[in-house]
Amino acid sequence: MIHEVIIITISQDNLVHVAPMGIKMDDKHLYISPFKPSKTLDNLLSMNKATINFTDDTRVFAGIVTGEKKDWPLIENNSFGIPILKNTNTHYDVTVIDINDDKTRPKIKCDIIEKKIHKPFLGFNRAQFSVIEAAVLASRLGMISTEKIIMEINYLKIGIDKTSGPNELEAWKWINKKINSFISKENKKNG
Ligand SMILES: Cc1cc2nc3c(=O)[nH]c(=O)nc-3n(C[C@H](O)[C@H](O)[C@H](O)COP(=O)(O)O)c2cc1C
Repeated sequence: MIHEVIIITISQDNLVHVAPMGIKMDDKHLYISPFKPSKTLDNLLSMNKATINFTDDTRVFAGIVTGEKKDWPLIENNSFGIPILKNTNTHYDVTVIDINDDKTRPKIKCDIIEKKIHKPFLGFNRAQFSVIEAAVLASRLGMISTEKIIMEINYLKIGIDKTSGPNELEAWKWINKKINSFISKENKKNG
């Protein structure tokens, strides 16, 4: 099972980096698979730690992959030394214990040091699922055919129309702006 989370890392010069990623986990360990090259991978290799943020605010995923909003409020004074997302439901502090290197996508095994619940889980929401799926599409423009993207966005919109709140609507707007601008550039290129 893959959990879509927000991973926060820091660089050697103490610069904070926030990125959406899919992770796998069991009770004690967690596995992160960043593509090469990536800032998250660099930071994990140099600093050996991260916070894993489980949030139902899907704007964080959409804001980062579309570039519409990359700066999210953080709680800096986490005693572990890595900030957490202010609007996270739960977070884990993790340390890197093993690296399974790979040409394109290494697998980083981490120990879970601490688990903290900050806000209750309020049940599943179809619009949040739609935003996460669409954010993945928006992060793979140029790799997936335009026809497939349009078809999938049209299907995912059903969940948005029927079940969204203001956060999901805002995230959906950012994603559509990015996808539409990509498609109109492609159309111009192809005459
Ligand atoms: C829901 C979701 C899941 C993602 N999962 C991964 C992942 O597992 N590995 C990865 O490298 N990028 C993943 N991405 C894309 C990254 O968030 C994006 O490429 C990001 O810029 C990572 O690179 P960075 O660490 O240099 O910022 C995901 C994006 C979304 C929206």
